[in-house]
Amino acid sequence: MNSSEIKEKLSNARLTIATDAFVEEFTASVSFDKRLAHYDILGSIAHATMLSKCGILTEEECTQIVSGLNEISALITSGQFSWSIKQEDVHMNIEAMLIEKIGVAGKKLHTGRSRNDQVATDIRLYLRAELAFVVKQLNRLQWAIVDLAEQHVATIMPGFTHLQVAQPITFGHHLMAWFEMLSRDQERLTECLKRINILPLGSAALAGTSYPIDRYLTAQLLGFSRPSANSLDSVSDRDFAIEFVAVASLIMMHLSRFSEELILWSSAQFNFIDISDAFCTGSSIMPQKKNPDVPELVRGKSGRVTGHLMALLMLMKSQPLAYNKDNQEDKEPVFDTVDTVLNCLRAYADMVPNITANKEAMYVAAKSGFATATDLADYLVKKGLAFRDAHEIVGQAVCLGIETHRDLAAISLPELQEFSSLIAADVYDCLTLEGSVASRNHVGGTAPEAVKSAILAAREKLVRLTSND
Ligand code: ARG
Repeated sequence: MNSSEIKEKLSNARLTIATDAFVEEFTASVSFDKRLAHYDILGSIAHATMLSKCGILTEEECTQIVSGLNEISALITSGQFSWSIKQEDVHMNIEAMLIEKIGVAGKKLHTGRSRNDQVATDIRLYLRAELAFVVKQLNRLQWAIVDLAEQHVATIMPGFTHLQVAQPITFGHHLMAWFEMLSRDQERLTECLKRINILPLGSAALAGTSYPIDRYLTAQLLGFSRPSANSLDSVSDRDFAIEFVAVASLIMMHLSRFSEELILWSSAQFNFIDISDAFCTGSSIMPQKKNPDVPELVRGKSGRVTGHLMALLMLMKSQPLAYNKDNQEDKEPVFDTVDTVLNCLRAYADMVPNITANKEAMYVAAKSGFATATDLADYLVKKGLAFRDAHEIVGQAVCLGIETHRDLAAISLPELQEFSSLIAADVYDCLTLEGSVASRNHVGGTAPEAVKSAILAAREKLVRLTSND
């Protein structure tokens, strides 16, 4: 066979009629899976090296294959590689080019493997690399949150339940809630990496191979923790990718909640924060507008990642063992998930240091919503009343406040004493916002002292996690 024939079509003597032109286009994946090229080449180099160490290829053949693949890698990097749908996917494009470049040795690369174990290996190598980038951006955002929280350990704001003012909290404490969510996301990514980092190669089409291969060597060459334990399973299941997309969906869900708050807080009605102009846009018609585009877009993008999760679950759920072409559909959702989560984390890590808090507005809002009502009830309990009775009494005091447009702290002592004779002048200590937050000084609490400890622990954790970068 001469080289132009090889370029025409790799293999297939079994099929006697040329592929329908539209079917060729319809079934090709090269337009998107060429993104795996770098990992495909890494996998092929490791495979060829293993084959030669096991005496299946000669050293000379292996050397030719490795240098041919390196040349192809350079062509791809410089944009000079011409991809063809005739070769269907990234794997066959590279193999066909290798054969064109080095001839017969190139035809031996596919010994003892199949595209089925090849593609499963490529996706795992790809996800392993991208997962490290996701963790990096996640950590950048966590640092930014901790830095901002540190500036606001004592900044008082209303805490909400049902989006109604509930109790006073510190802004630092609120921000650290975001830190905790992202921290769990990072743990999930690390967990998921364990299951990604397993080698399918050597499973061949589905049943393994009759060549005397050494899968432990291939695993070691590619930095996988071990070869997969079952050839059928490892060429077919994409649960590791689904798991990654599930973790990404959780990250996006967290960012979406974060976004929702930033959008509310930056509105004129709340006016709790200002997001630097660099992260906002104006309106083409309304000159006064400054829109929080970054949080809005991130909130919107969370939907597509959850969509990808659903798509992948549906893709997998009806497939009998082992490989089915359905699996070609795994790539676009996975790639888009990686891009989306990376871009959103990056935008957030850049934006968070550019958020300024309007302490005044936060304070006024905390003061105006009877946020210390629970503190008054706790005060009465400490003086000997049962909590339910205290709750009732404070409810009456709040009604008076509503009727007379006063906060609890603005109601005079004789008036408060009308509700309970247990109330004394020291009641005002707990009715102030500062007193209220300072009293919640335990692990996980909102007191400035407790928040400082949480920040310290968070910094130590981040230093530990990022120390091997
Ligand atoms: N392009 C295919 C995919 O993405 C590669 C594996 C093809 N294997 C096969 N037996 N047709 O899944």
